[in-house]
Amino acid sequence: MTGTSHIIGLLLGTEEDWPTAFGEILRRCGPVRGPRSDGAQDGSGENDRTGCDLHSFDIERITIEPFSLRDHPRYDLVIDRLAYWYYHPREWLKKVAMMDGVYLLNSPFTFQSMEKHAAYCAMIRLGLKVPETVLVPYKNPLDNSRYAYTASRYNQAFDLDAVAERIGYPMFMKPYDGGAWRGVSRINNAAELHAAYDASGEMLMHLQKAVDYDVFARSLSIGAETMVMKFQPDKPMHERYAVDHSFLPPGAGLEVQTIGRLVNAFFKWEFNSCETLVKGSEVYPIDYANACPDVALTSLHYYFPWAMKALVKWSVFALVTGRQAKLDLETDRYFAIADEPGISYGDKLAGYRKLADGYFETERYQDFCAARLPNLDQVVLEWVAGPAFDELLVTTVKSVYPEHEQDKFIAHLRGLLHLWVRDESARLAESH
Ligand SMILES: Nc1ncnc2c1ncn2[C@@H]1O[C@H](COP(=O)(O)OP(=O)(O)O)[C@@H](O)[C@H]1O
Ligand SMILES: [Mg+2]
Repeated sequence: MTGTSHIIGLLLGTEEDWPTAFGEILRRCGPVRGPRSDGAQDGSGENDRTGCDLHSFDIERITIEPFSLRDHPRYDLVIDRLAYWYYHPREWLKKVAMMDGVYLLNSPFTFQSMEKHAAYCAMIRLGLKVPETVLVPYKNPLDNSRYAYTASRYNQAFDLDAVAERIGYPMFMKPYDGGAWRGVSRINNAAELHAAYDASGEMLMHLQKAVDYDVFARSLSIGAETMVMKFQPDKPMHERYAVDHSFLPPGAGLEVQTIGRLVNAFFKWEFNSCETLVKGSEVYPIDYANACPDVALTSLHYYFPWAMKALVKWSVFALVTGRQAKLDLETDRYFAIADEPGISYGDKLAGYRKLADGYFETERYQDFCAARLPNLDQVVLEWVAGPAFDELLVTTVKSVYPEHEQDKFIAHLRGLLHLWVRDESARLAESH
């Protein structure tokens, strides 16, 4: 029997929890069958480019060091949590995507130019309910003598109060390329507006109408899978994701999921989170360009096993089926739906969903997981219920929280993971 081994590279910051979990699940899942050697098709790997029977996977943490632009990388797929913040790994990723066909979660080509602002533009263009948003010029011109000349000659004086009045209070002021709540403020009146604008300095800011929402839904998408979670932004980190399986009105759940998938397929992001505010049955997307989404055990808790499984499944699927990354965005396919005369919002969403599912090969992915990773759910359940996972949980809490809080957080996380084990056991029992 022939075999192909794949090396998955991880570009990491401070995290230890999810890389350990990801590696452990991949190891426990063992080699994965490629296309059938007798040539028969089972709907899950017929386009495989390798023609091999057994695929095995190794993980390596990528180090940062000089590289020749003509070097060939060792990796077949890279999961990146770093390049949004650091230029050297970002440029390395661009090189391996452009020259070596390495499969990336995510490609900096998509993320570097597609910050929050571009994502707003794209979703408004597609007819989504992005709240009224205005980009205002820098409060303080950049410290650059030529820019000062340009600014003094061409920047139009403008009436900030009039801009705000057109949007209407309350509103949010936030950086056009924001992340991690940096520089975000809620503005209730003109005095707060001016104070926040004066403080914005050299940050380029959006003003955005505040949505008076009932519920905040944050969805995490990994390839063809999406988990919609109830998010409580005012709570401390460990309580932000509430465990609640039916917090959205009928229809809104599917819409939130579709919006997450659509954004990702449109920009070709494969690992991203999307924030939507839901009022009644209306869904308003407000933040959906999160290049390095948080998947920490301490914040995802109950949803952590799902995220790790999805990451493993999507990586394995991409590698075994020889999925190719595309660098072009094919925006015209989406715009054609947006521009269809007389088409309803619901029909647009259905059209986008079809395109998104096509991009993510959703059906093929599901068939692949059922045929090639049939035991994964059971393997992960046993692991999460056992002592090795508990050790990871304890180590993670000890590295994140001060000593006097550790017992409390260990108990808190254990409780949530026990709940997951109970729910998952019931789910698996039911499906058998
Ligand atoms: N238009 C809005 N209406 C209501 N709340 C908002 C709005 N925009 C931002 N917020 C609040 O501010 C937080 C941070 O804004 P967000 O756009 O998500 O920026 P970041 O990219 O920094 O996460 C959101 O999680 C939400 O709680
Ligand atoms: Mg956000």
